[in-house]
Amino acid sequence: MEALGTTSIFNRSRLTLALCVGALMGCTSTSEETSQTTSAMSGIAMADQVCAQCHGLTGESFSPTFPKLAGQQKEYLKLQLADFKDHARSDKAGTQYMWGFNHLTQTQIAELADYFSSQSPMKADADTPDARGELIFRQGLPEAGVAQCSSCHGAGGQGGGQIPRVAGQHAAYVSRQIKVLQQTELRPRDALMKKNHSLSEADAESVAHYMATLGAKK
Ligand code: HEC
Ligand code: HEC
Repeated sequence: MEALGTTSIFNRSRLTLALCVGALMGCTSTSEETSQTTSAMSGIAMADQVCAQCHGLTGESFSPTFPKLAGQQKEYLKLQLADFKDHARSDKAGTQYMWGFNHLTQTQIAELADYFSSQSPMKADADTPDARGELIFRQGLPEAGVAQCSSCHGAGGQGGGQIPRVAGQHAAYVSRQIKVLQQTELRPRDALMKKNHSLSEADAESVAHYMATLGAKK
């Protein structure tokens, strides 16, 4: 009976999440229900049944509102989940969709990070070349004090440790995060990104577009 009870609560939450995803904006009701239903779940069950609603079963989300997680760096994932849990990463979309996961245990965070980091990496989103984006990614803009992105994010955009994979990530998510990291205090680990960036909006879009093309080939 207990198992049945859990399932029905879970289905209700799942429905709420599904509706939220459908509506995209204006969803504020996930937090309470999410924390009630997921506190006893293993990381893997949660990834499959909860996270997948927005981030996709294979970590390949469809909408750029939701970042891809497929093959994202394990350390990076753990830190970001801790930052959402502590309500320290406070971009509007994070507040709205991720702050409900403030009950995650260290074990669940480690299991979730293991799960997504071992998925096959994000696929390339776009294949139109972007020469300006490639130049910025590979060489930076020394005259503007912008370091080459590849020096930290890797020649293939794969990241490493606390530095995120950016290859194949949704361009619209990436350009939004560049702005957040550059111009706001909404992400607590922005020091390395702040130091290096005075990218114009157009250049941020170019480099975001280029990084999307670096993903795994479909
Ligand atoms: C209702 C939709 C929704 C659900 C469910 C959800 N997420 Fe998210 N997630 C988001 C959104 C939106 C963002 C982007 C937040 C931002 O822009 O700051 C995000 C961001 C993230 C990030 C940061 C990625 C990056 O590249 O920095 C991680 C990690 C993450 N989510 C993991 C999870 C995990 C693990 C779960 C399940 C426990 C989960 N999410 C469930 C919507 C969701
Ligand atoms: C000195 C090292 C360094 C350089 C150079 C650098 N980055 Fe980063 N970048 C980081 C770190 C560290 C993070 C993680 C920040 C955090 O945890 O909030 C990051 C995060 C990001 C993110 C957020 C990804 C996500 O999933 O949310 C984007 C997008 C990004 N960088 C793009 C760029 C671009 C574009 C360039 C080149 C113009 C660049 N970075 C150059 C270190 C660097």
